[in-house]
Amino acid sequence: MLNFCVVMPIVEFRIDPWSSEGLRDYEKLFAYFGVRPFKEVIHRLEFFGPLPLPIRRGAVIGHRDFERVLHALENNSDFAILTGLMPSGKMHLGHKMLIDQVIYYQRLGAEIFLAIADVEAYGVRKLSREEVINIALDEYVANYLALGLETRKLHIYFQSNYRREYYRLIQLFAKKVTMAELVAIYGEDLEPAKIMAVLTQAADILHPQLPHFGGFKIVLVPVGLDQDPHLRLTRDIADRFSEELGFTRPASTYHKFLTGLTGGKMSSSKPESFIALTDPVNESVSKLMKAFTGGRATAEEQRRLGGEPDKCPVFELNQLHLVLEDEELRKIYEDCRSGTMLCGECKLATAERLRKFLEKHQEKLASMKEKARSLVELPDF
Ligand code: TRP
Ligand code: SF4
Repeated sequence: MLNFCVVMPIVEFRIDPWSSEGLRDYEKLFAYFGVRPFKEVIHRLEFFGPLPLPIRRGAVIGHRDFERVLHALENNSDFAILTGLMPSGKMHLGHKMLIDQVIYYQRLGAEIFLAIADVEAYGVRKLSREEVINIALDEYVANYLALGLETRKLHIYFQSNYRREYYRLIQLFAKKVTMAELVAIYGEDLEPAKIMAVLTQAADILHPQLPHFGGFKIVLVPVGLDQDPHLRLTRDIADRFSEELGFTRPASTYHKFLTGLTGGKMSSSKPESFIALTDPVNESVSKLMKAFTGGRATAEEQRRLGGEPDKCPVFELNQLHLVLEDEELRKIYEDCRSGTMLCGECKLATAERLRKFLEKHQEKLASMKEKARSLVELPDF
């Protein structure tokens, strides 16, 4: 008889932060990379007042070292938020989940640093400088302000136009990062622009701890799941510079992506998949009316079996953006599950909420473009 020796293959698993595919298999983030479930810490955050929708309704699913932020909150010590925006298209509701969190932490007293990833958009996404600068201010920053971001303790900067101490970090980091570890994290497909973007992002994340930017403080980086590779690298860099520069590791939280209206990830490259904050309201409503749902093939079947709200992008819009009252959301969920409400009716009600939200938002937005430009120093070319 033959004896087979079964060797388990070592399964390589990487997250590609530049891929347009959303990461679906969240469990891998926990199992392979040691991200912790956010539900373990959420009760300690509740103590500080009402949570923003992405946290309260379960879109923020993971964290690293969030205990450090809780400790800062509990002891009234300084903490900062650092996150970045990729100015490569319209700002849509998927992006709103991030800024909702930033605004929440700002209200809890955090100092806010926002990096406009123009170096990355130019080098990796190959957009023109001018395009990137206009998108960043007119789309992102203006929308952030209209959503309620305040200018107190707020620093917004272009990666290509910041202070010299920040650039010095990038240069110093290059000494202690090897090609082998970059390949291990990001794969073989590394071009100079990506390496530049990665070291720049590490400088984004760590620079608030420098004396020139207020000195030591706890820094939390709220991001989408696909950004975790950058955090793994940056945490290692922080360790390597703990003596030389006094850095400590950043904390981070991870939110999942919003489902696109067409199914799949909500993505800037697929206009039918997202609702942008600046699109004409009628256009957005008609995208919603055409959206994929968790409904059944026929009305009869849906009355009999009920819909599937957990798979429905329309439900998700209500859950994460449009319905603030928990009781109201619970009713939508139950009426869907029981088959009492069909998708047509549900979409019409959602469209009404969307229309109200966008109209009010766009009214505020009108005056914010100018304010955005006065707040951020423009790169000179
Ligand atoms: N890479 C991020 C993105 O693609 C943008 C970014 C740049 C960022 N610097 C950052 C995110 C620092 C978090 C922290 O969206
Ligand atoms: Fe989605 Fe509403 Fe249809 Fe349920 S009834 S599947 S929540 S659109």
